[in-house]
Amino acid sequence: MTDTIKIVQFQDKYKDQVVDLVKRETAANVGVKRLKWITLFFKRNGFIVSTVYVGTTVYIFNFLLSLFISQNNIFVSAIILASFIFFVILPQLSKKLAKQAVHYSESIAENDLDDIKGTYLSQDDKNFWVAVDEYDNVCGCVSLSNQMPMETQYHLGKYIKENDGIKVAEVKRMVVNPNYRRRGIGIKLCNEAINFAKQKNFRAIVNTTVTLNQPLIGLYKKAGFFKVSSFFFQVLWKVFGIQVEVYLKLL
Ligand SMILES: CC(C)(COP(=O)(O)OP(=O)(O)OC[C@H]1O[C@@H](n2cnc3c(N)ncnc32)[C@H](O)[C@@H]1OP(=O)(O)O)[C@@H](O)C(=O)NCCC(=O)NCCS
Repeated sequence: MTDTIKIVQFQDKYKDQVVDLVKRETAANVGVKRLKWITLFFKRNGFIVSTVYVGTTVYIFNFLLSLFISQNNIFVSAIILASFIFFVILPQLSKKLAKQAVHYSESIAENDLDDIKGTYLSQDDKNFWVAVDEYDNVCGCVSLSNQMPMETQYHLGKYIKENDGIKVAEVKRMVVNPNYRRRGIGIKLCNEAINFAKQKNFRAIVNTTVTLNQPLIGLYKKAGFFKVSSFFFQVLWKVFGIQVEVYLKLL
């Protein structure tokens, strides 16, 4: 099925399709549906602790309601609170996360996708590839940068020290169009970046992703990356266990 898909170096004619694909999919993959929030909450805190949190919150809510509207039925309070969380709080959380994702994807577009050639093809140890079908449609892309991101340096100290002259690359912008997924295109693109990094004498590759992006994490693990660290990017996301995860592959 992937025989007709070719991996080629980026050219300007692919720019609009690439920008559209990366922006759209970066934002799409961090959306969280209402029920998923509940799953994340229980997964993060464990069943017993989550039940204690929920029970305590209902109890306090019931107490407050009894002060203001003389309502003292714990089941009624639980239903009111659950409805409020389900119909007001969780959609707001989803909106907030989606907004952050859109903001992030727009800053990507401004920062490096605006001038892909200048950013990735102006030095010989950086690169940007696209996967194209037989009609020259872009169905995926990936890039390799010759710098490791500032925010990961601290987390990688145990494994590598860039100061010692070890070259560390970052794999970025890994996206496959949803219509072409699970056909091996993602791993093909990732291996292209890994082989290039080896040729250019990089000793390691890093990347960062978020817990919610399980397909991407699955892909990186399959390509031989392992998790070296994780951190919460906002206190709120700690409650739901949404982390920024740092992955490393030694070459
Ligand atoms: C991650 C992604 C690139 C995978 O592309 P793909 O072409 O479907 O991947 P492949 O078919 O090559 O799959 C390779 C491996 O990835 C993992 N994988 C792919 N999709 C997965 C999924 N939905 N769930 C879990 N693991 C998955 C599997 O380990 C798979 O190996 P297997 O098929 O032997 O099980 C694609 O899902 C994607 O574009 N997701 C959005 C990425 C994104 O948000 N990028 C923004 C970063 S800037």
